[in-house]
Amino acid sequence: MKVFSGTANKELAERIAKELGIALSEFEIFVFPDGERRVQVRERVVEEDCIIIQPTSPPVDQNYMELFFMIDSLKRSGARKVTVVSPYLGYQRQDHVFRDGEAVSLEVIRSTLESTGLNKIVVFDLHTIKTPEIFTIDFVHLSALELFAKTIAAEHLNTSSSLLISPDMGGIRRIEILSKLLHNMPYATINKNRDLNSGKVEANELVNFQDNASYTSALIVDDMISSGKTIVAAVDLLRTKGISNIYVFATHPVFSDEAKELLGSSHAKKIFVTDGIYVPVNKRFPTLHILSLAPLIAKELSSS
Ligand code: R5P
Repeated sequence: MKVFSGTANKELAERIAKELGIALSEFEIFVFPDGERRVQVRERVVEEDCIIIQPTSPPVDQNYMELFFMIDSLKRSGARKVTVVSPYLGYQRQDHVFRDGEAVSLEVIRSTLESTGLNKIVVFDLHTIKTPEIFTIDFVHLSALELFAKTIAAEHLNTSSSLLISPDMGGIRRIEILSKLLHNMPYATINKNRDLNSGKVEANELVNFQDNASYTSALIVDDMISSGKTIVAAVDLLRTKGISNIYVFATHPVFSDEAKELLGSSHAKKIFVTDGIYVPVNKRFPTLHILSLAPLIAKELSSS
């Protein structure tokens, strides 16, 4: 097995290679002055099983183009099988036509990926569990929820006065799974509303929550944090219910521009994310904690 890294998250690729007890294999990625990329595999890969580590996170278009070229390079050079590990799958949210005239971006991504000859893809915590169904290649959907459950237990956050929270109704399945992993820890869901034009997020009400319950801690769990508005709205709503110890767990730190300020100044005590997306130093803040997906990915790669 040979493991290659694109430029999106070399740190994660190095951690995975370390877990596997191998060195990263070499790929040259050259950027022309106009931004175009030329990629070249620098090792013999004939009949090899090749893995590419490349989350398709922002800059999403650049990371996808680089990935397409890397797959093409490996297949042309004789690789037997190419597997992509893209913990965060870019464009997954645009999986159907929401408003007349829109493109189905995820369908375009799927067909382009499959046309390169890619054999298998490994992703984490998809926004929609139906996404694997549209792919015709091997598709492995892993989750960070087990890692979150272990962290919650290790940090002693699953007390009798704490509650799991999904910050929107779309996260119910996720919160149910985590609740089971934590011996049926109680949970509630927020009814959220986002204005598609302004991007404003409102956390309207807590569903499945008894106002007289004596919860003092809450653990908000989401698949991704982009602007940070969902998390901040959830934190603010929970504080109005008298809950002041608030922790956040999210798999994908997409962290668009305002996220650092919003999250860093929120009342969340700790915000746990994974290293599936690299968080540059200038986007980090004191309450941010990064958990590694490398052991889970290495385990998956060694077993397949
Ligand atoms: C929405 O359905 C997702 O699960 C996340 O809650 C959302 O994408 C987070 O976005 P933002 O951080 O911009 O509010």
